[in-house]
Amino acid sequence: MSAVDAVSDSLKRMRAEFGDLEGGRPADYIPQLGLADPDAFGLALVSMDGHRYSAGEAETPFTLQSVSKPFIYAFVLSVLGLDEVSRWVGAEPSGDAFNAISLEPGTGRPANAMVNAGAIVTTALIPDTPGEPAFERILHCLGRFAGRELDVDEEVFTSESMTGDRNRALAYLIRSTGTLPVDPVLAVDRYFRQCAVRVTALDLATMAATLAYGGVNPVTRERVVSAEVAARVLAVMATCGMYDGSGEWLLRIGLPAKSGVSGGLIAVGPARFGLATYSPPLDATGTSVRGRAALGALSERYGLHLMLNPALPGSTVSLVTTADDLPSAPSAEHERVLHGKVGVVVAQGAIDFTAAERVLYALDESGADRSGSVVLDLHDVTSVDAVALPMLHTGLARLSSDGRRAAVVDPRDLLGPPELVREGTGQDLPRYATREAAVEGCAKALAGEG
Ligand code: DON
Repeated sequence: MSAVDAVSDSLKRMRAEFGDLEGGRPADYIPQLGLADPDAFGLALVSMDGHRYSAGEAETPFTLQSVSKPFIYAFVLSVLGLDEVSRWVGAEPSGDAFNAISLEPGTGRPANAMVNAGAIVTTALIPDTPGEPAFERILHCLGRFAGRELDVDEEVFTSESMTGDRNRALAYLIRSTGTLPVDPVLAVDRYFRQCAVRVTALDLATMAATLAYGGVNPVTRERVVSAEVAARVLAVMATCGMYDGSGEWLLRIGLPAKSGVSGGLIAVGPARFGLATYSPPLDATGTSVRGRAALGALSERYGLHLMLNPALPGSTVSLVTTADDLPSAPSAEHERVLHGKVGVVVAQGAIDFTAAERVLYALDESGADRSGSVVLDLHDVTSVDAVALPMLHTGLARLSSDGRRAAVVDPRDLLGPPELVREGTGQDLPRYATREAAVEGCAKALAGEG
């Protein structure tokens, strides 16, 4: 028994707790789906390190159905870009069921890419390439999200083809408004095929984790879509992924999610995890009854709601003081006085926008009377992102234009090479390998001034 089994244990607990939950029944409007084992119940979680955890029937194959929609939306956004895709399909919650005629009055655009109407359009937007027909491209892309080659359940595909008149009617209707770029028969055939792609709960958790991890599959480490695309897909999942139950889902469970009528359900914790469940009995909105209950309980017990404690980073600024308060302060009185005029701000961890704001605020507040020299110690900083870097440059430049001397402890050149810093701050920022050296440098400079 290893320590991480505790994660699998929590999934097993959910399975034990909700495995007997009554209510709902497997979809049978696609006859082949009606044959599913109503007792199958699998759960899986994939972490951002690519660790995979599961319980129950997590390796039982079933078809993607509507869980395919966010991934196809991701693919088409990658191929055509947001502006082009938005000409054809909107991003507004429809408040309607998955198979409703959700077309925008006036334009005829489907409300969003999560309802059938929108999904038929997004699938149709993917062009063939000379070497690869559109459906092969789709299958290949879904496989990259899952981290393995996927195939089509031909029986489910045929079953839906023979009974899918409502989707066919929808496609003709969309075509009549001018927002379907291809022949309706072809569009629906491709859409049914995409819905019939076979996966397991573990595959789904990996696919969800790829969206959580900014478009990189955390198991294979392959980039599947850009971070921007992943973020946009999650936004539409959060607002539209659960159809007419999306608001209630976001309210109670608080995670971008997508359900499918074969019983699959995914939920994404951005930058945290991908979760998936498989259990065929569905409620009136086409969502797995046990999946909903299990994800709801997981969210509540483990505090997974997106809006709850929105990932407050550990403290960025670990110390704000003056140099005479440091253990290395000199004993001689005149030197102590000089050290008292040197403010010290020590930062740690990964510096992004939020962290940079804290650092800049601390720099402003530092030093006796918010004046004198200031040392910014980046020794324990692990990274400075592309947003934070110019913020730090500008902040340091402002300090010097206010007449304050700044120095940095930056042994790994996180602020960039000296030329870049000069460009950003308009000055040569003195840099030191240690805090003691930086304080000493500032104290000497002050002594020179005095
Ligand atoms: O188009 C359909 O009706 C099915 N192929 C997929 C619908 C679906 O999964 C709705 N989600 N809960």
